[in-house]
Amino acid sequence: MMKSLVIYYSLLGHNKEIAENISKDMKYDILEFAPGTMLRCFQFFLRHKKLRKLAGKVDLSQYSSLIACGPIWGAKPAPAIKILLETVDLNDKSVKCIFTYTQDHGETEKFLHDLMKKKGVDSLDIQFRNLHSC
Ligand SMILES: Cc1cc2nc3c(=O)[nH]c(=O)nc-3n(C[C@H](O)[C@H](O)[C@H](O)COP(=O)(O)O)c2cc1C
Repeated sequence: MMKSLVIYYSLLGHNKEIAENISKDMKYDILEFAPGTMLRCFQFFLRHKKLRKLAGKVDLSQYSSLIACGPIWGAKPAPAIKILLETVDLNDKSVKCIFTYTQDHGETEKFLHDLMKKKGVDSLDIQFRNLHSC
């Protein structure tokens, strides 16, 4: 049976909490991307090549649907979640993205629609959560 996964990157903990709640409520498997405390803290400074290598190790073959949670940084998805979504095989999967932000998520929605179209995603849902309005 195909399963569902919630994968997240979180620096300050909001996306960790969102992902944990989804996993609990919807019985999704859960995975933190950018593993390890050191990597998490210094992730902002990590070269994209390194992140791409880590993302290449994420195997989604047993999952038919994916929820990705991460923060908006610099009006874009934070590098870890952006590179993850660019790298993993999402063909024929159903994908939902949840992004937390405080002010501005720029062109994220258009960027994702274009990316997911290229990747053959079956269905896409994008949600933005403003942390200041909670
Ligand atoms: C390096 C950095 C850049 C950020 N840039 C933006 C931004 O451009 N727009 C915005 O609305 N919020 C921005 N934020 C706020 C983050 O979106 C917010 O801290 C994040 O959603 C919290 O998620 P987390 O607790 O899972 O890390 C930025 C935060 C950091 C640390």
